[in-house]
Amino acid sequence: MVREWDPRTASSAEIASLLDTLNAVLAADLPQDPPWRESSLREYLSEVMPGERRISWVAQAEPTANGTPGQILGHVHVLLLGDIGVLEVLVHPAVRRTGLGRTLVKLAARRLRDEGFQSIGVEVVGDTPAVAFYESLGFSREYVETRSVLDLNTVDWPALAEMATGIGAGYHLEFCPGGPPDDLIDAYARTKAEVRDVDDGELRPSSYDPQRLRDSLDTLHRRGMKPYIVLALHEQTGEVAGLTEVVVPAQHPTRADQYDTIVVQDHRGYGIDRAIKARMLLELRSAEPALSEVQTWNAQANEAMLKVNAELGYRPDREWCEYGADVAELVHRLDTTH
Ligand SMILES: CC(C)(COP(=O)(O)OP(=O)(O)OC[C@H]1O[C@@H](n2cnc3c(N)ncnc32)[C@H](O)[C@@H]1OP(=O)(O)O)[C@@H](O)C(=O)NCCC(=O)NCCS
Repeated sequence: MVREWDPRTASSAEIASLLDTLNAVLAADLPQDPPWRESSLREYLSEVMPGERRISWVAQAEPTANGTPGQILGHVHVLLLGDIGVLEVLVHPAVRRTGLGRTLVKLAARRLRDEGFQSIGVEVVGDTPAVAFYESLGFSREYVETRSVLDLNTVDWPALAEMATGIGAGYHLEFCPGGPPDDLIDAYARTKAEVRDVDDGELRPSSYDPQRLRDSLDTLHRRGMKPYIVLALHEQTGEVAGLTEVVVPAQHPTRADQYDTIVVQDHRGYGIDRAIKARMLLELRSAEPALSEVQTWNAQANEAMLKVNAELGYRPDREWCEYGADVAELVHRLDTTH
């Protein structure tokens, strides 16, 4: 049975069942990734930025003979972001290749069409069945990044401590757990607005103005995701010359996610990228002792950032692709083929 589903009002048993399916998917497709935990999973699935909406459906097995609700075997949600719908689909490995994934995409695509959306996008992990799945539905590959993972057990900490201080004169670094301090929000937002050369997925838009930045930090906190920031401040102007953001999600707190890293054009060439990332890892080591890995996503053309990440010990892991389709064409294809 497939039905629209609201994670805010779902039973705890449903949330737990969805978690089981998510972990079965991870074990099948990304066995090196840590399994997810239930903490703040409901919030992770429900909370969105102001002005955004997420619509979800689940596929649930029939109740058992004694009336116990069936397992959640499939899930789709679509995040309505400005003019694009961003899709996520999960099907339990035990019931794949039965057409369920296709049914779930059809529901989301029809809703997007009804809401007047033209484009649909999805992040697809390289070397998993999702690649053949989305290609069979007519999605095309629009952008490819590389995910890299740093195992903190392999880090040369004394070398890292040196990198963290190897920064040109006239700058100092500041570690900000929880987000940028209030008096730096404006300068921080200006830096995010000026520079688009970020090492983050295209489907996660950055925050460019102070209010949007505050909203995005609030949303992160509500979703159970703890942000950490290291800033490089240019002493003469008070400008945020560089920043790097890492988020520790309650759902997989042993593996953190690197978000944006930005060095403003005029301040490049002073070792800021290397220093802020190294300082971040040193701080995380004491702030998050349970953390064992950090993952980051980079455009394959971003050689400077890839070089610094390699020096820090990041190892390329997988391709991470963005696929897209035109909503009307997708609905038409799904309605007219099997
Ligand atoms: C991608 C996914 C949703 C597909 O679900 P599914 O229910 O198996 O898909 P369907 O049965 O509807 O498949 C539709 C078509 O896609 C293609 N397809 C799907 N899986 C495929 C595979 N492993 N190999 C080749 N083609 C495949 C086929 O053309 C298939 O049609 P067919 O079975 O008639 O040949 C599922 O594998 C999944 O949940 N993957 C994890 C996705 C994810 O987000 N992961 C993130 C964390 S790893």
